[in-house]
Amino acid sequence: MSEPRVRVPDLREKKRRGEKIAVLTAYDATMARLLDGAGVDVLLVGDSVGVVVLGYEHTLTVTLDEMLHHTRAVARGATRALVVADMPFMTYQVSVEEAVRNAGLLLQAGAAAVKVEGGPAIAGAVRRMVEVGIPVMGHLGLQPQSVHQLGGYKRQAMQREEIETLVEDAHALERAGVFAIVLEAVGHDAARQVTSAVSVPTIGIGAGPDCDGQVLVSHDMLGLFDGHIPSFVKQYAHLAEDVARAARAYADDVRAGRFPEAARPLETRRS
Ligand code: KIV
Repeated sequence: MSEPRVRVPDLREKKRRGEKIAVLTAYDATMARLLDGAGVDVLLVGDSVGVVVLGYEHTLTVTLDEMLHHTRAVARGATRALVVADMPFMTYQVSVEEAVRNAGLLLQAGAAAVKVEGGPAIAGAVRRMVEVGIPVMGHLGLQPQSVHQLGGYKRQAMQREEIETLVEDAHALERAGVFAIVLEAVGHDAARQVTSAVSVPTIGIGAGPDCDGQVLVSHDMLGLFDGHIPSFVKQYAHLAEDVARAARAYADDVRAGRFPEAARPLETRRS
């Protein structure tokens, strides 16, 4: 019998019970099936897809059509995990109406919730999305869609005043109705203070051990991405090396006439 789906209210319940929440990014059906089967609670169709899958320099280039495409794929692969889709840059900042319409498209593509970056500036859009039945996850601290304004991917909320602002921003998102808040690359003190100040779960990435849950980019933690990996990432596998080794062995076999083997039975590509 299949396990019951993780739903939005389950995450707040996990925080209440002191149970940590495991979140990973996913961008396609096969990976979603594997991560879902391993018991990951939330699959985030992150706009990090732009960097680790599509080869863009940053997430600002990712379009709504691309997010819809990857969200559909992940939704087809996930049977238990809560699927959350990132709203790409400029799909929720221009007007509340656009934010609601675009979030609705992501839910129609199979997401159960959307994620947006920012604090009070986007609270109006968050409130309206929640009012019409769209669950929203917030994202504070390092906001990659603001990389140009920040001047790089820098650690946030290290000083007392910045921590106070972060806590205020988290309260603003909580009042607007978010069901969880990602805290990216903030000081550990800041993460601890926000986590105890809000009733919704915090999901940390490079924010220390005191958040209610953790998220990593799956391609980073699986060692599948061959670009820069942030130092806070724990790598549980080194798949890029495995892929390169397998591809080299295959190419060698083809060139040497070792593959295909004459004795191998012929069948169609997929049953
Ligand atoms: O896009 C993404 O993968 C994210 C996570 C890093 C939280 O927003």
